[in-house]
Amino acid sequence: MKILVFGSLNIDKVYTMPSLPMQGETLTCKRYEVHVGGKGLNQAVSLCKAGADVSMAGCVGTDGDLLVEFLRSTGVHTDKIQRTEGFTGHAVILVDGNGQNQMVMYPGANWEITPEYCDKILDEYEAGDLILLQYETTQVGYLLRKAHEKGMLVAWNPSAFVPAILDEPLECVDILLVNEYEGQCISGECAPEPMTAALLRRMNGGAVVLTLGGEGAVYADAGGMVRVPAFCVDAVDTTGAGDTFTGYFLHSLICGKTPEEALRTACAASAIVVTKPGAAETIPDRETVECFLRAHC
Ligand code: RIB
Repeated sequence: MKILVFGSLNIDKVYTMPSLPMQGETLTCKRYEVHVGGKGLNQAVSLCKAGADVSMAGCVGTDGDLLVEFLRSTGVHTDKIQRTEGFTGHAVILVDGNGQNQMVMYPGANWEITPEYCDKILDEYEAGDLILLQYETTQVGYLLRKAHEKGMLVAWNPSAFVPAILDEPLECVDILLVNEYEGQCISGECAPEPMTAALLRRMNGGAVVLTLGGEGAVYADAGGMVRVPAFCVDAVDTTGAGDTFTGYFLHSLICGKTPEEALRTACAASAIVVTKPGAAETIPDRETVECFLRAHC
């Protein structure tokens, strides 16, 4: 199975402060860092750190070399990434003393993705290959349809949520990965059981994975539902926790682990990542995750 992550690449500008500013308030922050990021990049790195052979497609602008170099140094194949004129996407991220964040996104090159570019990339893939998508780039609906028509295994993390997601073809998705907020907005349900059931009804079979932050994670398919608790850690920065979860979960599943084992592995990986500032740079390798699991299970 070939694995393609088609998604966003961002430069993350991270400002750390004791508490997030209220409306009209000006705060001075003592720490400013630049990190590599973007949900697509983070998820590609997570899959790769978990042990997968991954290619990334997406667009960077003239200032995007650091993202491509980082991916390459991690082991992600970068030959499909397209360069455009203008700025690379970036995120302004405010992190508070509890590791919680607020974000402003400038999409930049992530919104330069065209159907022609998508077709060119998908030509290299066939039935049975895996594609993983998010919702920070243009052409996501087009990619969902085309990849499904080809018979690829389609995994979708519809994040960050915007109302346009409600018009996208959920029936083309095999594995849907959502957090509570995304799941609620898409399904109209609040509790995990009716939420996952409503989402599964809108998909053609397949599976739903629901992350619940400190409450753990849920997997549901036609055979039923399984839930695992979260690991208790002191969070420093939760940026990228969901992306880390997504990569580790998918890798575990395609390697033949049970959904429950895959959830546990993914929860462990994301528990580790929140204990350090940044996202992609702090995604742990498989050995570290296995060591954590041995110590905590
Ligand atoms: O999920 C975290 C990511 O969301 C950050 O790296 C930021 O770039 C935004 O895309």
